[in-house]
Amino acid sequence: MEGIRTLISEAEIAARVEALAAEIAQKTPDDFVIVALLKGAAVFVADLVRALYRVGARPEIEFMRLSSYGLAKVRSGEVHLLGDVPTDLAGRRVLLVDDIVDTGRSIAYAAALLHQRGIGNLLTCALLDKPERREVKVRIDFAGFSIGDVFVAGYGIDYAEKYRYLPYIGVVEG
Ligand code: IMP
Ligand code: MG
Repeated sequence: MEGIRTLISEAEIAARVEALAAEIAQKTPDDFVIVALLKGAAVFVADLVRALYRVGARPEIEFMRLSSYGLAKVRSGEVHLLGDVPTDLAGRRVLLVDDIVDTGRSIAYAAALLHQRGIGNLLTCALLDKPERREVKVRIDFAGFSIGDVFVAGYGIDYAEKYRYLPYIGVVEG
């Protein structure tokens, strides 16, 4: 049976989300739309938009769902679109939000798709960045925490669909 070792506490996440929101509010235009990637970024974006509100930003919120790891810790490397943004984003300034940037494939896929739709400008934000794992070059404009090559869960992030409910982020061991 695997276990979870705390890596980033609830308080550390909360403080970092507030700081990220301040950074984002300073560098994004007044009128922007967040596109968050399901399901992993759901918990993060829920906190982020409220932190953004506290510093004066009023973004719209949309979601896009990409294919996931399935039940394993490693995956094929192929990304598929499972659920699209229903609104026309042409010309809009978009902040793409994900939970983790690992190989970079998911965020690169989502960014390419948004550019195909003719969005005006793209900024990217990820709660966690695993730079050691990168296979595709991607720009992350706002990153919460940089972590090593470990498999994590909690705060919306799953391991085989478990642990999304944890209020902290932990390393899955065993
Ligand atoms: P990438 O496409 O390899 O960059 O992977 C990004 C996606 O894989 C993230 O949005 C997560 O959903 C998932 N992922 C990457 N690392 C982890 C992890 O350590 N735990 C759980 N999911 C992960
Ligand atoms: Mg994800």
